[in-house]
Amino acid sequence: MQVTTRQETVSAVTDDLLSRMTLREKVGQMTQLTLQAISVGQNEKGDQVALDSVKLRKALVEDHVGSFLNVFNQAMSREQWRALIGEIQQVARSETRLGIPILYGIDAVHGCGYTTDATLYPQNLNLGATWNRELVREIGRETARELTQNGTFWNFSPVLDLGRHPMWSRFSETFGEDPFIVSELGSEYIRGLQETEQYIAGCAKHFIGYGQAPTGRDRTPTFIPQRILRQLYLPPFQEAIDVGVASIMVNSGEINGVPVHSNFALLSTLLREELCFNGVIISDWEDVQKLHTVHRVASDSKQAIQMAIDAGLDMSMTPFTTEFSQLLVELVESGSVTEERIDSSVRRILDLKFKCGLLQEIKAHSADDEEAGVGGKPVGRYGNRSPEISRTEKQDELSFRAAVESIVLLQNKNDILPLNPRARLLLKGPAADSLAMIHGAWSYTWQGADEAAYPDRLQTVRMALNQNFDVVDAEVDCDAVVVCIGEHPSVEKPGDIDELNLAADQQTIIAEAIETGKPVILVFFAGRPRMLSGIQEFVSAVFWAGQPGPFSGQALSAILSGQISPSGRLPFTFPHSGSVFFTHDHKWADKVGADYGVAQEYSMNGVRPAWEFGHGLSYSRFQYSRPDVAVSSESVSVSFSVTNTGQRAARENVLVFVRDHFASITPEVKRLAGFETRWLDAGESTKIDLKLPYEALSFISMANERIVEPGAFSVLVGGQEVEFVLTNICLASRREIT
Ligand code: GLC
Repeated sequence: MQVTTRQETVSAVTDDLLSRMTLREKVGQMTQLTLQAISVGQNEKGDQVALDSVKLRKALVEDHVGSFLNVFNQAMSREQWRALIGEIQQVARSETRLGIPILYGIDAVHGCGYTTDATLYPQNLNLGATWNRELVREIGRETARELTQNGTFWNFSPVLDLGRHPMWSRFSETFGEDPFIVSELGSEYIRGLQETEQYIAGCAKHFIGYGQAPTGRDRTPTFIPQRILRQLYLPPFQEAIDVGVASIMVNSGEINGVPVHSNFALLSTLLREELCFNGVIISDWEDVQKLHTVHRVASDSKQAIQMAIDAGLDMSMTPFTTEFSQLLVELVESGSVTEERIDSSVRRILDLKFKCGLLQEIKAHSADDEEAGVGGKPVGRYGNRSPEISRTEKQDELSFRAAVESIVLLQNKNDILPLNPRARLLLKGPAADSLAMIHGAWSYTWQGADEAAYPDRLQTVRMALNQNFDVVDAEVDCDAVVVCIGEHPSVEKPGDIDELNLAADQQTIIAEAIETGKPVILVFFAGRPRMLSGIQEFVSAVFWAGQPGPFSGQALSAILSGQISPSGRLPFTFPHSGSVFFTHDHKWADKVGADYGVAQEYSMNGVRPAWEFGHGLSYSRFQYSRPDVAVSSESVSVSFSVTNTGQRAARENVLVFVRDHFASITPEVKRLAGFETRWLDAGESTKIDLKLPYEALSFISMANERIVEPGAFSVLVGGQEVEFVLTNICLASRREIT
């Protein structure tokens, strides 16, 4: 029996379809429309989302559109999603010539968003604070299971951008500032998302260098030297490709004057040739047109399409018009774009649909089908699948666990925490009663700001604390004041801000709490740091809670009461002032103070954070043994033990840094090289054995190559530094190391 590999099977199906497709059908597969373009009305708030039968058939039958995305301004139940997508697929498979089902994309960036009966999880920045690979992978899996039930098989997630500029409106969508943690957690998410029974396609975004604009404002010009691009922004995408991410979405912005959507060097030479990525490259929202309308590198829409196709784009999120496909057909017919180039994109798109199980039912074409008038129509995938439709308690438990592990205790003066469970609390601040502030964007609406869009089943922080504490109204009756501050969620351009200082009204709430003379516990719900401007000196405890999602209140309650010890650690640097930002991998020149001495610690008059990258307190205490460091020809082994010397069980997130003492490129003061998470009972010890590949000691040279130079290095862990020396070494190619 002839054994065919999966790829051969895919190719057989894809090649067969390609051979039968007209140019218009091919180009239609490269077009993605938003749901509004085929809906009755514009999905306005309160509208019942309904397909416009005429618009739907024009898109599918006349324009051969192969993909749709999103829902605007509201969420739908799982039943509604399945009915909607089932209706679209029914027309796609029974009324189009080839019966190719559509692929539906959605931004399930912190759980199955836009779905009223799905479970949401903490935002990625919170997941970064958990340092927990297994947790993130499990969230990927559970998100895939909920997307399966909706019928939305393409998830525009994970975000692999770096959160290095706290002004950026999408800081909360990143796993943090460091390429290593973003690589590790992003790839775990992709593994989880793409490994369930129904293949859910991941989408690493936004390739590349997004969110680094000096202005801190979304989609504004960015200037990144090739060396820095490779050092910082490329590794997460490289890792995503290595674990098999199905697709990549392009950064809307420009780098060094060239929009990424028209950058052949990035989309073809780097992505295709150097990184060997053979998945689908999709544009971001309207970004082909924006080559003309915003970036003005194209004099009209047709030139914009030519530039994007020449650069290597496979699919355009147009998302309201089919002008893209009409003009692209003209470009092919005029010879400006070859049909072979079109076939290369359509083959990848059909391969993606095959992976998602959408093409298997399409019968290979045969003459007798023609006679029978069957025309190779597939048996409907949606006609005979009915997965159970329910939200499991497991997903809620997972979301609660993630929320608990993601909350960071920054300050705990005189160990005021945990509180006596019978403590009487006065609860203040807008975040105590806001579901929007504790969820953030991409929840039940795009911006996440509409409180009415949040399902009634969800609890505010106040509701949750009320169940576990005696929450009082008068300050005279309370033992402590819990002030929950935050920011009204908003992302992308609507989320651009002018400064990072805390809003004046929230500063007033904190000041009033301090004036009561009672201990103040400040809980900061926001998808980025905001300047506390020294307020922390006047309060007892400070949490950065981020946007922990639906179980924020339950998680905070468990931590305040001491039921669970906090274990979160900052995956970003919490700046001290609103105008000086730097990251943990800063340089020695950053540390020079007014005295021109290079302080070993943060000099008071140089730049220094309010709280460092990796900072986070526990209710227990942990002791680290001095690391043993052994250099071999391929890696550096680091072994040490961690002991819970406290009186209670707790989780400890172990962070390992390296330091290159001298190098031909200015070395970072330190750089994250490894991390592990461990739950330890009181008195329990655990052994940590890390093998750091030489890549962890490498950097990108002036020749834009990854190298490791011989010389003195240090490992820094648990407040200890151990030096070692590398002698003659060669850095094998990345693939050889891993
Ligand atoms: C947005 C975002 C992108 C998202 C897409 C579809 O503009 O930049 O992250 O996946 O549009 O919603």
